[in-house]
Amino acid sequence: MAVNETVKYGIIGVGMMGREHLINLHHLRTQGVVVVCIADPHLPSQQLALELAKSFDWPLKVFSGHQELLDSGLCDVVVVSSPNMTHYQILMDILNHPKPHHVLVEKPLCTTVADCRKVVNAARKRPDMLVQVGLEYRYMPPVAKLIEIVKGGTLGQVKMVAIREHRFPFLVKVNNWNRFNSNTGGTLVEKCCHFFDLMRLFAGANPVCMMASGAMDVNHKDEIYDGKVPDIIDNAYVIVEFDNGARGMLDLCMFAEGSKNEQEISVVGHTGKGEAFVPESIVRFGSRMEGRDGVQTLKTENRLIKYEGLHHGSSYLEHLNFLSAIRVKGAKTPAADLNDGLISVAMGVAAQLSIEKGRFVNIEEVLDEHNC
Ligand SMILES: NC(=O)c1ccc[n+]([C@@H]2O[C@H](COP(=O)([O-])OP(=O)(O)OC[C@H]3O[C@@H](n4cnc5c(N)ncnc54)[C@H](O)[C@@H]3O)[C@@H](O)[C@H]2O)c1
Repeated sequence: MAVNETVKYGIIGVGMMGREHLINLHHLRTQGVVVVCIADPHLPSQQLALELAKSFDWPLKVFSGHQELLDSGLCDVVVVSSPNMTHYQILMDILNHPKPHHVLVEKPLCTTVADCRKVVNAARKRPDMLVQVGLEYRYMPPVAKLIEIVKGGTLGQVKMVAIREHRFPFLVKVNNWNRFNSNTGGTLVEKCCHFFDLMRLFAGANPVCMMASGAMDVNHKDEIYDGKVPDIIDNAYVIVEFDNGARGMLDLCMFAEGSKNEQEISVVGHTGKGEAFVPESIVRFGSRMEGRDGVQTLKTENRLIKYEGLHHGSSYLEHLNFLSAIRVKGAKTPAADLNDGLISVAMGVAAQLSIEKGRFVNIEEVLDEHNC
């Protein structure tokens, strides 16, 4: 696609995240981006998206399902931001459609490893399409800075990666889809795929085995939907062993509104330590040699960000990255690709299984074709 050619987008699922994509894409309008159509079966979501688009002067064609959107041939790129349990079928329909569409699919890629694998296999047959997975935490300025420090070798060989997410409970979603593991893949898949993805990046390695402990101890206990109480865990500790000897640890708490930061990341190598804090947007790093007095503190920002939105500008940078991959197709691959999507889901599935079984789970156990 030529650099000055207009890139036409369609958005499948225009709830909270789909509308966030719509606003982000509007901030990319000067780069030849336009959203031309949406698909969502829920009238209130359609209405809210239409109102937004009207304020941007973007007339939208509205469809109630993704198949009609694909058949319309109106767009070059689709953003899939529907609930997790719908990603698999929507992705397969996109990948099997005669018209090529580049795809940005929200995390998690799918809710099971088996479905992720089928999508990966189907995508292999479509070299005319790019697929990027919405693992956008990589782009948050303090996280991106810490990745740069780690990759620059300042900390030496990474040995330990600890990620703490202490935040508010899951928000209310359209038809409450996020209250059940069968729809989300489980909390450690649904949201923690972001952190497993970061651990792989920091460790520069792949997981070997995982051990987790977690439960639904505080949130959602008094909620009932169609006679069923939610089954999603709200806190967990997860330990990961990587194939280069590095270790990871996730500390998740979703009843921790009384926190200054939502995410605190610590990466320790054999010569130094780095930390990132979100939303304070601070990075600290120091060396064993210089000790506490040598620790540097940086306030991070990224001047490319034109819209902060709900995720500290990371959705904007994600779109910028994907747009440049689309424009130079073949010369550049998406930053977070299908394999990243698959492994981040597999790690979440392994952690959920570890809680269920009360034992270490080897990643091969969930990646094995015969088990999934
Ligand atoms: N990157 C992030 O940090 C981040 C943050 C929030 C949500 N998400 C992801 O975005 C996706 C959507 O989450 P949300 O918070 O917007 O949920 P939401 O409930 O607010 O919106 C989902 C929308 O999808 C629509 N929908 C349902 N089935 C559909 C189908 N088959 N085709 C088209 N639309 C359909 C619903 O009607 C609703 O309007 C999820 O996969 C979620 O995990 C990612």
